[in-house]
Amino acid sequence: MATRWGICGTGRISHDFIVALETLPAKEHQVVAVAARKLEDAREFAKRHNICRAYGGYEELARDPAIDVVYVGVIHPHHLSACLLFTNAKKNVLCEKPLAMNTKEVQQILASAKMNDVFFMEAVWTRFFPAFVEIRRLLTQEELGEVKMVRAEFGVPLTHKPRCVQKELGGGALLDVGIYCLQLISMVYNGEKPECIQATGVPLETGVDETVVATLKYSKNRLAVLTCSLRMELPNDAVIVGTKGTIRVPYPVWCPTSLVVNGKETQYPLPEPCLPLNFTNSTGMRYEAEEVRQCLLKGLKQSAVMSHADSLLLAEVEDEIRGQVGVVYSQDCQ
Ligand SMILES: NC(=O)c1ccc[n+]([C@@H]2O[C@H](COP(=O)([O-])OP(=O)(O)OC[C@H]3O[C@@H](n4cnc5c(N)ncnc54)[C@H](OP(=O)(O)O)[C@@H]3O)[C@@H](O)[C@H]2O)c1
Repeated sequence: MATRWGICGTGRISHDFIVALETLPAKEHQVVAVAARKLEDAREFAKRHNICRAYGGYEELARDPAIDVVYVGVIHPHHLSACLLFTNAKKNVLCEKPLAMNTKEVQQILASAKMNDVFFMEAVWTRFFPAFVEIRRLLTQEELGEVKMVRAEFGVPLTHKPRCVQKELGGGALLDVGIYCLQLISMVYNGEKPECIQATGVPLETGVDETVVATLKYSKNRLAVLTCSLRMELPNDAVIVGTKGTIRVPYPVWCPTSLVVNGKETQYPLPEPCLPLNFTNSTGMRYEAEEVRQCLLKGLKQSAVMSHADSLLLAEVEDEIRGQVGVVYSQDCQ
């Protein structure tokens, strides 16, 4: 039986997600409905992607009984309301990153998912790429010895995009791109909470973070450094340094198609998209979609690779870094 997807939001990432699903067998993944704030947007999107049902409003999608899981692809200030709508309607959910604006919102979403006994995952797609599966294998088998340092960077010029810079649209480097560095660091350090975080940054006139540098210290003197920026193109790679070896995750670190382990490079090519994509390597969202399917088939309510605790940790560390840099969203004051 195919996993029947409903799509919430008809923006750029929703388009790419559907193109990624189309790289998977149709007998396993089907998009059966889409909802937008405006019916004409939903209809146009449905026509472009050959989706049979189009709704003008997310509530109708929540009421559709013939959906196994909803993909939430709206901008992050609207993740809380959308996720609560779908979890309360007993729908399984895959929600785009960042899961919400702060820890308090993430807690509300996760509590609702638990209370309604539905599957829920933050769409940290990077973790499901073959290169990241290999990183976890190398770490589990202790092939690097003890990891002592992780450095990760993600910076691209995005200040021309309103969603990335306007505070009310959830702008800011950390939540948009820095989260990818943070999720890598958290994965390597096995979901541990940092003992100490020191962050500094450069704000934009809009009050959100343009560039952030943060150092994180973990138990046993293990360190990490992350840099993220909406202003400048950084190398956008990462290194994981252990006592017995080093992994380099080359550009693009958030969706890598290669890995360099102790100097030896391995390629992990992606399938070609059937339509032009909005973002780099988006067909790689197929791996998170397949994780969702496998979890649903097993009756799991969360993924072991990107768990509720993982989402909570990301939000807590993001809150701490934002606090130190001085970025406050209206949601923090509610
Ligand atoms: N995984 C990745 O690689 C990746 C890449 C890019 C973005 N993202 C994440 O995906 C989310 C969407 O990003 P995007 O670039 O696709 O955004 P987008 O195209 O600008 O907007 C996505 C949707 O959000 C809703 N929306 C936009 N502005 C709104 C507003 N002012 N008020 C209420 N709703 C609004 C609209 O839904 P309707 O269609 O219903 O009107 C829109 O179609 C973000 O949370 C972002 O962090 C992830």
